[in-house]
Amino acid sequence: MFTGLCVYVCVCVCVCVRADIDNSGFVSDFELQELFREASYSLPGYKVREIIETFIAGDTNKDEKISFDEFVSIYQELKSKEFSETFRKTISRRDGIRSFGGTSGISSEGTQHSYSDEEKVAFVNWINKALASDADCRHLLPMNPEDDSLFTSVRDGILLCKMINLSQPDTIDERVINTKKLTHFRMTENLVLALNSASAIGCTVVSIDAHHLMAGKPHLVLGLLWQIIKVGLFADIEISRNEALISLLSEGEQLDHLMSLSPEELLLRWVNYHLHNAGTTTISNFSEDIKDSRAYFHLLDQISSNEEQVFRNSVKIDMSGLNERDLERRAELMLRQASKLDCRQFVTAHDVTSGNSKLNLAFVANMFNMHSGLHKADVAKNGLDMTHIEAETNEEKTFRNWINSLGVSPYVNHLYSDLCDGLVILHLLETVKVPVKWKRVNMPPYPVLGANMKRLENCNYAVDLSKNVAHFSLVGVGGENINQGSPIHTLALVWQLMRRYTVMVLSDLGDGERIGDQIILAWVNSTLSQKRKDSQISSFKDKSISTSLPVIDLIDVIAPGTVKWDMVKRAERGVLRRDDKLENAKYAISLARKIGARVYALPDDLVEVNPKMVLTVFACLMGHGMKKANH
Ligand SMILES: *[C@@H]1O[C@H](CO)[C@@H](O)[C@H](O)[C@H]1NC(C)=O
Ligand SMILES: *[C@@H]1O[C@H](CO)[C@@H](O)[C@H](O)[C@H]1NC(C)=O
Ligand SMILES: *[C@@H]1O[C@H](CO)[C@@H](O)[C@H](O)[C@H]1NC(C)=O
Repeated sequence: MFTGLCVYVCVCVCVCVRADIDNSGFVSDFELQELFREASYSLPGYKVREIIETFIAGDTNKDEKISFDEFVSIYQELKSKEFSETFRKTISRRDGIRSFGGTSGISSEGTQHSYSDEEKVAFVNWINKALASDADCRHLLPMNPEDDSLFTSVRDGILLCKMINLSQPDTIDERVINTKKLTHFRMTENLVLALNSASAIGCTVVSIDAHHLMAGKPHLVLGLLWQIIKVGLFADIEISRNEALISLLSEGEQLDHLMSLSPEELLLRWVNYHLHNAGTTTISNFSEDIKDSRAYFHLLDQISSNEEQVFRNSVKIDMSGLNERDLERRAELMLRQASKLDCRQFVTAHDVTSGNSKLNLAFVANMFNMHSGLHKADVAKNGLDMTHIEAETNEEKTFRNWINSLGVSPYVNHLYSDLCDGLVILHLLETVKVPVKWKRVNMPPYPVLGANMKRLENCNYAVDLSKNVAHFSLVGVGGENINQGSPIHTLALVWQLMRRYTVMVLSDLGDGERIGDQIILAWVNSTLSQKRKDSQISSFKDKSISTSLPVIDLIDVIAPGTVKWDMVKRAERGVLRRDDKLENAKYAISLARKIGARVYALPDDLVEVNPKMVLTVFACLMGHGMKKANH
C-alpha cells in the first residue's frame, strides 16, 4: 500500500520550509521548488505548484513553517507512488532538508491539518463586522469566534460570495446567488460560483473544490478566506489608485521603482515614513519588529495627528502604554488606542507579541485604508511626471488575475515589472504543457552584479520556447522586450498563453485536435440552433454579443433551468440600452461561473465585445458543455 512508503519517507524528513505567507501564500524558498523540480521531472509544473499550494494551505499555524504533522498529512494526500519514489531519491541526495526522527504515532488515516485559531478568530470578527447589515447573511451572523461556526457557515456559499463581492465590488451579480430553499445542490452551486469568482479576482483555488468547502475543511476555508480578504485590503494600496502614496518616494528614487513595489512593501514604507517623522527607529518586518508595540504606538500617534481637523480634535493617542513593561499588557493598551481610530481589527494583544506576520499585515493594511495620514498635497514633489501614472486596464487586470489564480510564483502585482525576469512566463509555458528545462533557468536571488543579465537570459529562453515550441506568433518580440516590461510585447505573449490555456481543455476533451476559433464558433452556433435559440454569432466580434443574449442562451442550453428569464433584459424596438446590456453581462458572467465555467472576463468585455475575452467566455462554456455531454 502507498501508506507504507509514505510513512517511510515522512519519518526521515522534516521539511522546515519558510513559506512566504505575506505574499498571498507562495513559497518564496526556491530551494523547495528546485527540490520538487528535481524530484518530479516526470510531473508537470502545474502539479508541482498544486503541491506547493497544498503545503501553503496547510501552513496555517503561526510559525510560518510547515510542521511535521502538516507535512505528513499533505504528503499522504498526494497518493502518487511515482512521485514519492522520485521524491525519496532526491531527498536522499540533498541536504538543506533536515533529518527528523522519532516522531511517530501519526495515524495514516484521519490526520487533521492543523490550522491557526488566531486566524479563525480574526477572520470571524472581520466578517461579522463587514456583513453585519447584509440581510442575506442574517441566518449566519454573528458567528461565534470561539467555536467552529465559521466552518459550518461557509457551507451554503453565501458568505463567501458576499465576501468576494466586498473585496472586489461587482464581481458577483447577487441575483445569481441562491438564498432560498438551500438544498445540497443549490448550496453547491453557490460554492462553485464562489470558487470561480475567487479565481477571477486572482485567488489561487487549485487545490480546493466545493466538497472541501461543504465539509468545512478548516485549513482550506481559512486559506481561501485570507486570499479573498487580502484582495480587498490591498485593493487601494496602489499608486494609480492612491496618489498620496507618492509621498513615500525616497530621495533620489525613481517613481517607476516605487510603482513596482508590492502592497506589502508599500505598507512597510508607509509605516516607516511615519516612524521617521516621529523620529523613531524604523522596522523591517511585521513580525519580530512589531512585537513590542513601539512602532504601533508611534504610527497611531502620527496618523491621528495627521488627520483632518475634525478628527484631530477628537482623538488623542495616549502614549503612556509605552512605559508598560509587560509586552502583552502594552499591546493591549496600544490596541485600545487603535480602537479610538476604529482600527482595532485582525490582531489580539497576543498576536502582536507573538509577531504573527499575516495578521499584523492585515492590521496595518486596514489601518492604512482607514487613516493613511498621507496627503495629496505632499505629492507636489519637484518635477514628478504625473502623466506617467496610468491605472491598470481591464485587460491587464484580467491577465494578472488569471496568472495569479494559477498559483504561479512570484505573485504578480504589476503585470510588466513582475514578469521582467521571465520566471512567471516560464511557469505559464509549463502550464500549457511546454516542457521547461529548469536547470537552464536562473533563479533568484540574482547576484547584485549582472542581475539583469540573469533576468534577460530567462526572458530569452522564455521567448525562444514560446516561438519554437509553443509556436506562438511573436513577430518582432525578443527577450529584451519582456525584460524591459514593454506593454505591447508582454501583452501579445501573455494573451497567447491565456488563449492556449483556455482552449487546452477543449483539446483534452476532443480528440486532441487543435482548436481554432472556427471550431468554437461552429459549436456555439450548432448548440444554439439544436435548441432552437435564435441567437447565432458570426464571429467573436459579432455586435449581438454586446447584449449577452447569445451567452445567456448558451447557458440555458448547457444547464437548463439556471437562467431566470425575468432577470434578462430584452431589446425594445431592436435596441438595448447600455445599462441593460451591462446588467445582462453581469448576469451572464455570474451564471457562467455558477454552472462551473471558470470565466475570467469582465462584464465590460461582453458589452464592448472585446473579441479576445469573448473567445475565452465561449471556449470556457464549450469546455463545460462538452464535459457535461461526456458524462
Ligand atoms: C455586490 O454586488 C451587487 C451588484 O450585483 C451590489 O449591488 C452589492 O451592493 C454588492 N454587495 C456587496 C456586499 O458589496
Ligand atoms: C525582522 O527584522 C529584524 C531586524 O529589524 C530581524 O532581526 C529579524 O530577524 C526579522 N525577522 C524576520 C522574521 O524576518
Ligand atoms: C454561425 O451562424 C451565423 C449566423 O447564422 C453565420 O453567419 C456563421 O457563418 C455561422 N458560423 C459558423 C462557424 O457556423
